[in-house]
Amino acid sequence: MRNKTFAAVVGVLAIAGAALAVAQQKPVSSRTPIVVYKTATCGCCALWVEHMRQNGFQPEVHDVSAAQVRAVSQSAGLSDEGASCHTAKVGNYIVEGHVPAADVQRMLKEKPAIAGIAAPGMPMGSPGMEQGGRKEAYDVISFTKAGKTAVFAKH
Ligand code: CU
Ligand code: CU
Repeated sequence: MRNKTFAAVVGVLAIAGAALAVAQQKPVSSRTPIVVYKTATCGCCALWVEHMRQNGFQPEVHDVSAAQVRAVSQSAGLSDEGASCHTAKVGNYIVEGHVPAADVQRMLKEKPAIAGIAAPGMPMGSPGMEQGGRKEAYDVISFTKAGKTAVFAKH
């Protein structure tokens, strides 16, 4: 009997804890949808998806081949030099690689005439690429369909 009561209390606490965790996040309806293409085995991609989820986005994740990932941003004008491990579509824009959520939010707010933004390669210390406290300086670049690039943000 006592065990049963204990189990019931633990159960109630677990439900309350889960409800609190959900309440702290934005409701799904007010989140910005983002469609992510990554490979199934990519751990840093999953961590970036989590970073986006924690920052107001609602990711829809598709596990595809590396060639399919590349094809998505290539068709939007991003060269191989700008490429990274995953790519995403948000609104009419492409977001390639470990771009901080704040940069994506800024792009959506400012609505620049570009095809998207990218964090080329896998910069150490970028969202999803945390390696202890190690950080390397990196640029988030913008690119156009015609392949024109510019610095969008410095980190
Ligand atoms: Cu990565
Ligand atoms: Cu990735």
